[in-house]
Amino acid sequence: MQNGKPARLYINEVATRDGFQMEGRFIPTADKVALIDRLGGLGYAKIEVTSFTSPKAIPALADGEAVMQRIQRAPGVVYTALIPNRRGAERALAAGVDEFNLVMSCSETHNLCNLRMTREQSFAQLAEVIALARAAAVPVNVSLSCVFGCPMEGEVEPATVMGWIARFAALGVAGITLCDTTGMAYPNQVQALCGQAIARQPALAITAHFHDTRAMGAVNTLAAIAAGIRRFDMSLGGIGGCPYAPGASGNVATEDIVHMLDCMGHDTGLDLAGLIEAAGALEALVQHPLPAQVSRAGVRLKRHLPPLDFEQIVARAQGRGAGG
Ligand code: COA
Ligand code: ZN
Repeated sequence: MQNGKPARLYINEVATRDGFQMEGRFIPTADKVALIDRLGGLGYAKIEVTSFTSPKAIPALADGEAVMQRIQRAPGVVYTALIPNRRGAERALAAGVDEFNLVMSCSETHNLCNLRMTREQSFAQLAEVIALARAAAVPVNVSLSCVFGCPMEGEVEPATVMGWIARFAALGVAGITLCDTTGMAYPNQVQALCGQAIARQPALAITAHFHDTRAMGAVNTLAAIAAGIRRFDMSLGGIGGCPYAPGASGNVATEDIVHMLDCMGHDTGLDLAGLIEAAGALEALVQHPLPAQVSRAGVRLKRHLPPLDFEQIVARAQGRGAGG
């Protein structure tokens, strides 16, 4: 029984990709690099550095090559990037990413809006990209968007999701990320879909990716752990969202979720104090308050002083005598 037992969890930081793609302000390249270098020392399994998308579609990440080339690689951290098509794969390869994170939606409507292709057109192009990656010995993960529902189509059938996972598995990918693009997932749905994916594809590394759009990100994380998921995407500060998914908002916040998981005895390998400090630096970069909560509230056992008149309160209580 995996439920409730402390587990070793592997965290992929997506703030500099999923987060920055949604920011109004272009974050200068040097600031992106400095943030990634800082995050590199905090214990992440992976960092999604950027995306190699069309600069017209995602202007915030138009500097993908420069960021990849300037970051310092921390030992043990996999530096990955999001890739939508062949052109993106060629750019990522030239920039020296450790892993390709391919993207496709399980919803036809969202795939058309986000990637300007039908799902079959995306799959055909990504199949070529997977062959390219194999020739270059670069591992491939596929992020499947909208697996728990689509903001335009509504429900997405689990059979549809399982079908796309199976087709990518047949091409030899190493991992699949189940993305809740607009926070439509709920806990028993998460447990069922994650459990089904693990049971059908035991050789794949399966990652869960939650957005907190409807305040279910933390419970969905616990449901995924209960189903056996050990890899999670999270975004520092809780920034993020897909600009081509109506109603999208931020990912689960790394520091909030890690704080919860630490309390529960799980091992994320992450330095919570370092995350909170890094979130302060991130807030200065994006120039708006972050949705995350633990940085503001402090950790669970942060001690506050009682009110200034506490001694009078005590004296008054004592004056009342026992049972007063
Ligand atoms: N990197 C850089 N430029 C790219 C590119 C890539 N990966 N893919 C296409 N382009 C360029 C082409 O060279 C072409 O340039 P030109 O106008 O100067 O000739 C232009 O973009 C249009 O190319 P086309 O293949 O017709 O792309 P499109 O307009 O149909 O857009 C995508 C398709 C996939 C490139 C685009 O929709 C995209 O980048 N989407 C990503 C969305 C995203 O990241 N969403 C959030 C994450 S889920
Ligand atoms: Zn996302």
